[in-house]
Amino acid sequence: MAIPLIDLVAQHKTIENEINSAIKNVIDTVSFVGGEPMTGFEDDFAKFCGVKYGISVSSGSTALDLTLLALGIGAGDEVITTPCTFIATSEAITHVGAKVVFADVEPGTYNIDPKEIEKKITPKTKALLPVHLFGHSCNIEAILDIAKKHNLIVIEDAAQAHGAEYKGKRVGQFGAAACFSFYPGKNLGAYGHAGIVISDNKKTADRVRLLANHGREDKYEHQEEGFNYRADSIQTAVLRVKLKHLEKWNENRRRNAALYNSLLKNVVKPIEESYAKHVYHLYVMKVKNRDKLAEYLKSKGILTGVHYPIPLHLQPAYNRLGHKKGSFPISEEFCDNALSIPMFPELTEEQVRFIAEEVNKFTA
Ligand SMILES: Cc1ncc(COP(=O)(O)O)c(C=O)c1O
Repeated sequence: MAIPLIDLVAQHKTIENEINSAIKNVIDTVSFVGGEPMTGFEDDFAKFCGVKYGISVSSGSTALDLTLLALGIGAGDEVITTPCTFIATSEAITHVGAKVVFADVEPGTYNIDPKEIEKKITPKTKALLPVHLFGHSCNIEAILDIAKKHNLIVIEDAAQAHGAEYKGKRVGQFGAAACFSFYPGKNLGAYGHAGIVISDNKKTADRVRLLANHGREDKYEHQEEGFNYRADSIQTAVLRVKLKHLEKWNENRRRNAALYNSLLKNVVKPIEESYAKHVYHLYVMKVKNRDKLAEYLKSKGILTGVHYPIPLHLQPAYNRLGHKKGSFPISEEFCDNALSIPMFPELTEEQVRFIAEEVNKFTA
């Protein structure tokens, strides 16, 4: 049985007609950038997340860059984030001229640990950039409390957590702004690159929109220098169709995770804290001999991934920060043992049972 880590073909087949007609509509109306297919999606997604404003942009990475810039973070500032994430999170801090400060993660969720954040705060700390990793919300209330105490800005990196909840509220509505990626493999994925910034604050939203569009509100007058970081409407039209299916898809992911949880033995399974509704962007377990297990599963036709093999503080890109092995032990132990097994809404019960059986055989 050949099983990919994620199966975008299976998903596309279930919505092919809706997608084709949405794309045809963009072409027929030649609204390639902007227009209803874009503003309609921005409104729908902001509403879905429980906030007022959404600004679609070219990727999750540019969403982060724009948000930090729009919130006035820059040279001389420090921003605290997690070493257990994709590098786009910390790159954004550097892109605006601020300093990346890592804080270690919690042993259970592998999200940034509020207690570790407190230890890293200095007079230069300006913002906190937590990531809702793999679809599990951070302990956002504890993070907001720290931010309030020290007068810090909170920006949520929700790139992996479309529809995830903290105490019944969707992530993305807690910080000053939140950034999502719609990279194709995400829970809500475009048919190319796209992202969005959401916020309840009009000033922040307006500034992000301005910066994403060369600093202009109308065609010929530029308030400041900005970027071309706008999304394109074929992507937002696709996303608008897919958003209608997201809740059902997330439920299917949760069903598959529950089945894995009931079947897998001899591995450390992902947890769901009582405050969280996990949407399993990835199903990441910890296991001894991770690389050998990955090889074994591959020989059975089961593809896996590692998120992430090297924590950011040990990446050559961050040599300048002077960290070494042992600097962030929880992140390091996680990265040494993490293995992502197939997780997508269309995964069948038969496939989950087969994967679990093969994992159990190897780890017995
Ligand atoms: C946590 C996190 N932040 C940011 C990004 C960047 O998003 P994009 O690939 O759309 O630029 C990603 C993408 O994988 C991510 O996982």
